[in-house]
Parts: sequence; C-alpha cells; structure tokens
Amino acid sequence: MKIIIDTDPGQDDAVAILVALASPEIELLGITTVGGNVSVAHTTANALKTLELAGRTDIPVHAGAARPLRRAPVDAAHVHGATGFEGVDLPPPRLRAQAEPAAEFLVRTLASHPPGSVTLCTIGPMTNIALALRHAPAIASRIGRIVAMIGAWSEVGNITAAAEFNAYADPDAAAAVFASGIPIVMVPLDVTHRLQISAARLSRLRALGNRIGPVVADWFAFEKRFEAEKYGTDGGPLHDPNTILLLLRPELYEGRSVNVRFETESPLTRGMSVVDWWGVSGLPANALVLRTVDADGVFALLNERLGRL
Ligand code: BDR
Ligand code: CA
Repeated sequence: MKIIIDTDPGQDDAVAILVALASPEIELLGITTVGGNVSVAHTTANALKTLELAGRTDIPVHAGAARPLRRAPVDAAHVHGATGFEGVDLPPPRLRAQAEPAAEFLVRTLASHPPGSVTLCTIGPMTNIALALRHAPAIASRIGRIVAMIGAWSEVGNITAAAEFNAYADPDAAAAVFASGIPIVMVPLDVTHRLQISAARLSRLRALGNRIGPVVADWFAFEKRFEAEKYGTDGGPLHDPNTILLLLRPELYEGRSVNVRFETESPLTRGMSVVDWWGVSGLPANALVLRTVDADGVFALLNERLGRL
C-alpha cells in the first residue's frame, strides 16, 4: 500500500508515523505537514524528529499550510504542549524539509502514480488537501481513498461542545474534501473514545523493550493527562494511529457508509460534523464512518508494530 501522511505532530500523530514506518505492507511516499496542534514550523520539525528517531531519513517531508483556508488559526498546545512534543522533546532535527510545498508535492505525486493507487492518511486539519484540490481538481480521481481522523457523530465535540479539533481547525477544508467525491474512511471520536490508553496499556507500551517504547509511553502520558482529566477516565483516547492500523487490520473496525457534511458558518457549531447516521437527509453517502472497534485487538496490533522498531 502506497500512502502519504498529512499531519500536525503532535504526539499521537508521531505514533501514527512510527506505525507506518514499522509496517512492511506500507510504502510511505512522503509526509506533508500542516499547522494544527501547534504551528507548522513545530509540526514540520516534529515530523523530521520522528523520522530520525526511527532511523528513516529517506522519507521526504514537505511543509504545508501555516493557517486554515479562511479562519484564524487555532491550536491545541494546551493538550500537546508548546512544541507539540512535550513529554519527550527529541533533539533538534538535522534532516531538513524539502523545498517543494506540501500541496505541490501532493499534486505531483498523485499525478505520477496510477489512478487509485495512493491512499492519503489525514490526521490533522485538511487544509493541504483542500489546497491541492483547488490547484488541481483532477487529482480527486487519482486518490485511491482518504483515511481521515476527523469529526464525530454521537461523541460530538472535543475542542468545543460541537466540534472535533481537526474539523474545527479548518471546517472549510473538511467541507471541500468531503464534497470532492473522493472515497473517504472517517475515523471519528466515536471510535477513538473507545480506545482508552489506560495505565495498564501505557505500561505495556513502556515495556516494549526497544528505544521507542518509553518515548511513546512518555508522549502519551503527557498528551493524555489533559484528556483523562477532561473525561474522568483512566487515560485518554488513541486518535491518529487508527488511520494506519485500520489499513493493516480493517476487520478490527466497523461502520456505515453515510452522508457527512461540516458546518462552516455558525459561530456556535463551527466545525461540527453532521453525520447522517440514520439516512434521514436523502443525501448520497460520501464516507464510510467507523463507529465500533475491537479495542484489545487495536492495542495488540499497536504494540506488535511499535515493538518492531
Ligand atoms: C485530533 O486532534 C489532535 O489534537 C490529535 O492529534 C488528533 O488528530 C483529535 O481530535
Ligand atoms: Ca493530529
């Protein structure tokens, strides 16, 4: 499977990248970065640090949008720390990002691969994908599918009462991508909130027996302290790595093909994903929205893959 990861690392984004690097079924063509959890300067540096941690300096990193299409930028530094990597801030990268911007890399790479052969895994705000579609609408028909951590149905919001962070940060981009006709698999909070990184799961990660285990455990311990407090749970949810894990073991997840739209105007519900789970709108399905998950299966797969690094 050839994939591109569009990302705003962020601890859980970095773990998604590590899982992809650990998986021989996956060929990672490149990483595109976007401002989201923290600024694009930090997310780009963090992507480079993650590749150096894994010893995979052969993967190109292309920096992308610093700000959303239309709105003022919002971040999630209160969750991820000022650099996005609080918990373990790795040494400054020696590796550099490519000169070519993210949207141009996306267009060029998709145009030079057979139609349908590349999957985009998006785990941050969708600004880069929307910009690429704006510059070259024909790439829509060349993308095999988008696997996106974004939005929510019954779990509603995590950054506001109505919206999930990646959708809230750039609702116009999400709306454009979901209206593009590209096949989409959506990993919403309904899935990630069933995947609690409990103390027991954290200690199994720490004990992987390689260099990566304690780094991932310390990252999650930092990121999840905020969410554990918010939800009153033992640990916080596993978000972004699902977009990679489900490529490896799709049978761990179940969902329904339905229509999804995003609120772009209302100040009250900005970024809300309107998921027509019951099919009442009469609108055609534009995404496979996942809802249930085999949590023990997901954590077993996560550990097995990270243990390979
Ligand atoms: C999403 O927001 C970010 O904080 C995480 O990295 C994840 O992509 C969860 O809502
Ligand atoms: Ca993310």
